[in-house]
Amino acid sequence: MESSERKKRIFSGIQPSGELTLGSYMGALKSWVNMQEEYDCVYCIVDMHAITVRQNPAELRRRAMAQLAQYIACGLDPEKSILFIQSHVPQHAELAWVLGCYTQFGELSRMTQFKQKSQQHADNITAGLFTYPVLMAADILLYQADAVPVGADQKQHVELCRDIAGRFNGIYGDVFTLPEPFIPRMGARIMSLGNPENKMSKSDPEGCVFLMDSPEDIRRKFKRAVTDSETSVRFDPAGKPGVSNLLTIYCAASGRTVEAAEAEFAGQGYGVFKPAVADAVIALTEPIRAEASRLMKDRTYLEGIYRSGAERAEQLARRTLRKVYKKVGFIER
Ligand code: TRP
Repeated sequence: MESSERKKRIFSGIQPSGELTLGSYMGALKSWVNMQEEYDCVYCIVDMHAITVRQNPAELRRRAMAQLAQYIACGLDPEKSILFIQSHVPQHAELAWVLGCYTQFGELSRMTQFKQKSQQHADNITAGLFTYPVLMAADILLYQADAVPVGADQKQHVELCRDIAGRFNGIYGDVFTLPEPFIPRMGARIMSLGNPENKMSKSDPEGCVFLMDSPEDIRRKFKRAVTDSETSVRFDPAGKPGVSNLLTIYCAASGRTVEAAEAEFAGQGYGVFKPAVADAVIALTEPIRAEASRLMKDRTYLEGIYRSGAERAEQLARRTLRKVYKKVGFIER
């Protein structure tokens, strides 16, 4: 059977609603790169998700392009994996409509992210913000993805996707593959440098390292990173959240184990430790920044990548959508 020989398929996406961060790299992109060998990977720039909150059009366009350049600079290989922009493949919106008719209002009302975001954007709670998990389900199901690498905050959305798919299959037979959420372990949780109780987030730019930050910016941000009143470099997330976060970052950037890093800095204060973390991060980000900047100047290349990515994606998406339209009773044109 064809399916037993097929590599398992992965789908994931990041919104171009801000610049990519060290958190996006360590929590997502790094494992996306590693999965390219073993899996058949489809990686998306989900610009349609980004407009669930108001965006500046010129900025959105620039960031989507920059994100593509950074995907490639991080090691996503457009020959191996499908890299594309969501709005280039119309089947996402089309399937989302159908799936919305198989999703309960109550289910969407229970989504924690919706509850949070509707508080943050209380003056603009749109239907798009509410139905966003349905669009995400369409993203995943169009490609018959077996697994979806996501941060813990997206697990509920992947579970809803499974519920919708299971319900649809229950009515019409096996149409969709049921996807598993896949939460990468190591380095998955990078916290804010200024506020180590919170996740590193672009909304707090001084506590956040961006992949395109200059070495000077990175050194400054680590210099100001919150630690504690002790002097020992020890991993203790509850007692020493700031230092533990710096250790996590140091280990993820340098490939060392926590034990090795603790030993390396034994007897040395934060005045030595913090610049060393900054250097490890710069060693990681500088080659990415240089390659992404180079690619950004080559628009023809980037356009070629997103066009061929969209073509390959659309071929897969069209097959699923055709099946769905037939099942629900639409006349084939
Ligand atoms: N909602 C995800 C986020 O904000 C992004 C996303 C959209 C996504 N569609 C997806 C992630 C499909 C995984 C699979 O992080």
